Amino acid sequence: MPEADSGADPVLDVMRRHRSVRDFKPGQPVPEEVTERAVEAAQCAATSSWIQAYHLLEVIDADERAELASLAGGQRQVADAGALFVISGDTRRHRLVAAREGQPYVNSAELFVLATVDASLFAQNLTLAFESMGYGTCYIGGLRNDLAAVDRLLELPDGIFPLFGLCVGVPASDPGTRPRMPARDIWSRGRYPTDEELMGQVDAFDEAAASYYAGRGAAGRDWSGGIWRKFSRPMRTALRGFYDSKGASFD
Ligand SMILES: Cc1cc2nc3c(=O)[nH]c(=O)nc-3n(C[C@H](O)[C@H](O)[C@H](O)COP(=O)(O)O)c2cc1C
Repeated sequence: MPEADSGADPVLDVMRRHRSVRDFKPGQPVPEEVTERAVEAAQCAATSSWIQAYHLLEVIDADERAELASLAGGQRQVADAGALFVISGDTRRHRLVAAREGQPYVNSAELFVLATVDASLFAQNLTLAFESMGYGTCYIGGLRNDLAAVDRLLELPDGIFPLFGLCVGVPASDPGTRPRMPARDIWSRGRYPTDEELMGQVDAFDEAAASYYAGRGAAGRDWSGGIWRKFSRPMRTALRGFYDSKGASFD
């Protein structure tokens, strides 16, 4: 019988301590053996049909990292963190296997989703592994600002779909944790909530977010204001064309 009271579970403790770190101690690279431990553990994540459709590229060159920091919208941590990784959905091996056998590789939107889900499960396991060893992490979706430029810089072959970056390093300061919605808001049993229930949850979370922001000198901000602003304009409209050009199919 699984343990019902998981209050003292060390894995859950690491998960609850998560915060995105954007300020890293300089001159403290992540040792290769640490990354190896983290990657080996992260690979134990479940993977659709055992396909292992992900790749982790560690960017070593300082000039490349500076260029990626700029492409990500001037995010300093991309250049400064102890390590920078680019996480991609990887369908290249599968294509090569099919080609070697002289068999068709039948592309579809499902294959893009498979690779994206696989890569994301791996990435979150990797993040937890690093955090469990005392490192700070920050995902970098900002790399999707200009994936074509990222792709050229890193010379990624077709069949590789870069998704996001991951900064890892020794935290220089503690940004604290950001609140989340109550578990019961994102977990329902039997039926999805009504729109009225959802908006009641939003109002309650706006209050929690407002006090979080006020405690950080940003009084007047709330959660829903950030949401409608974010989704009020088109985002990264080149993505589909880019992924198409790298061999993804959305059919
Ligand atoms: C896929 C993904 C991409 C992200 N991209 C960025 C990014 O480009 N820059 C950044 O500073 N934070 C980025 N974040 C971090 C989120 O902003 C952060 O997780 C969220 O605000 C919650 O804060 P917390 O991680 O400290 O709990 C990203 C997170 C995810 C999951």
